[in-house]
Amino acid sequence: MPSPWYDVLIIGSGASGLSLALRLADQISVAVISKTALIESNTLYAQGGISAVLDAEDSIESHIQDTLEAGAGLCDPDTVRLVVSHGKACIDWLLDQGVAFTEVASDSGMHQLHLTREGGHTHRRVVHAADATGRAVETSLERRAREHPNIHLFEYHNAIDLITGAKLGLGDLGVLGAYVLNGQTQQVETFRARFVVIASGGASKVYLYTSNPDIATGDGIAMAWRAGASVANLEFIQFHPTCLYHPHARSFLISEAVRGEGGRLLLRDGTPFMQRFDPRAELAPRDIVARAIDHEMKRLGADCVFLDISHRPADFIVQHFPTIHARCLELGIDITRDPIPVVPAAHYTCGGILSDHRGCTSVAGLLAIGEAACTGLHGANRMASNSLLECLVFARQTAEYIQANLHQRPPPPPLPDWDESQVTDSDEEVVVAHNWDEIRRFMWDYVGIVRTDKRLQRALRRVELLKQEIAEYYGNFRVTNDLLELRNLVIVAELIIRCALMRKESRGLHFTLDHPETDTSAPPRNTVLHPRKA
Ligand code: FAD
Ligand code: SIN
Repeated sequence: MPSPWYDVLIIGSGASGLSLALRLADQISVAVISKTALIESNTLYAQGGISAVLDAEDSIESHIQDTLEAGAGLCDPDTVRLVVSHGKACIDWLLDQGVAFTEVASDSGMHQLHLTREGGHTHRRVVHAADATGRAVETSLERRAREHPNIHLFEYHNAIDLITGAKLGLGDLGVLGAYVLNGQTQQVETFRARFVVIASGGASKVYLYTSNPDIATGDGIAMAWRAGASVANLEFIQFHPTCLYHPHARSFLISEAVRGEGGRLLLRDGTPFMQRFDPRAELAPRDIVARAIDHEMKRLGADCVFLDISHRPADFIVQHFPTIHARCLELGIDITRDPIPVVPAAHYTCGGILSDHRGCTSVAGLLAIGEAACTGLHGANRMASNSLLECLVFARQTAEYIQANLHQRPPPPPLPDWDESQVTDSDEEVVVAHNWDEIRRFMWDYVGIVRTDKRLQRALRRVELLKQEIAEYYGNFRVTNDLLELRNLVIVAELIIRCALMRKESRGLHFTLDHPETDTSAPPRNTVLHPRKA
């Protein structure tokens, strides 16, 4: 019996995947697969909020300008305008889905959405649900998706690889489905679909220190690459300036909104330092703040710097940052009185699968949205709170495209089952654990906030060896989640390094001591990699 098929297979159930599913499902059959529990995603942990022009004093032009400036000359202006101009409509859509954003009473006594501020934004324009915006968004979308009869949800299903006509020797049919490891049965299942949408998020787990949860291993980027899709701008990995520095809470973020509401960055002796690096001080774009912290930590041999909001009234702090307050208190830090120890950590993948305004990639039938995609919105540096907005706008764009083009793609043909005849159970799981550690450590040491050609070359040599070793292992042993993620991490690491080596200048998030200046002799260029030419 051939496996069942769907109009659309969505890989990923964060803000982008679930929004797309909800926008499509009234007319179209949709399957959503999710590597672990449905809500476990970067989206769930988003704190600060979603940028949108809602204040009468603010304007679309100003939001566009701020985004372009943060992106250091590499944003695609059409994409920026497209995304920014849909901000209000997307917030309204989320309100319709039941998301409870934080409100304040206006002068006239009416309730309106509270807007906070973050780095790079020249106005208050960040809609939020206290400091747990992602949880409010994700759980509301989850509720709606679970209720919808046309959305078929597959939790604990790990997509292994895309199935394409080219891989099967059937010619240029584009993508036809995916092989997926069912975590409950440990069997590999075949999913077929007219369209496959990668909504699998970013790749920050490729670094030793990250704000991201475990799911963020760049699977979709690696799968799309193996299926023949082009990728771009992967050198632009965003390091969030302020992750909590504590042995028991490695990836806990201290939202940029803390700085937006007056938080100051201090050295251990209480000296502020950001003004020395940028006149916007704590509210400069992230690349500048993260580099300044890295510089001060290296200069002083310090383990961390400190973020202090304790000068604001205690009830203000608790009301605006209840999650951060509670988590820090559990760890013995009372943020209403004490400065918070913080360090930068890998946070966001600005580059990804090259996709256009409809979400289309260079492979027919394959679309990419959300953090996995490179749409041109972020350029060389994403501005805070523009990511969730991008997820929502591109889910809408892609839904429109699929609805208009559904019948251009025929139902997928029967596909061969996964072949396990040549593999056995692994007898050396230690190889997987070791290689995981090795990749994440050399990416942190050699491909981090400050790079050099020599460090990048060193990392490339390591990655090439590991790639061979992992391919051999994958060819011999039955797949497990750890092995699948490792196989993807090594590809993403290689793509990041190759992009970084191609950029012979410093721009936005890519800073190299060998080329410390931005190249102004030619128009700024994206770094694009095409699989068959790589
Ligand atoms: P995700 O939300 O990461 O979802 C990815 C999904 O893909 C998950 O369901 C995962 O299980 C699934 N998946 C992955 N691989 C596979 C596979 N092989 N098979 C099946 N499923 C798979 N952005 C903002 O705009 N504002 C903020 O305030 C903000 N705060 C943040 C705070 C933190 C701590 C973090 C980590 C990020 C924050 N960001 C913020 C960034 C933003 O949250 C993400 O960029 C955004 O949520 C990405 O959404 P997504 O749908 O693309 O991917
Ligand atoms: C934060 O709250 O600092 C994260 C915001 C973002 O990554 O956009």
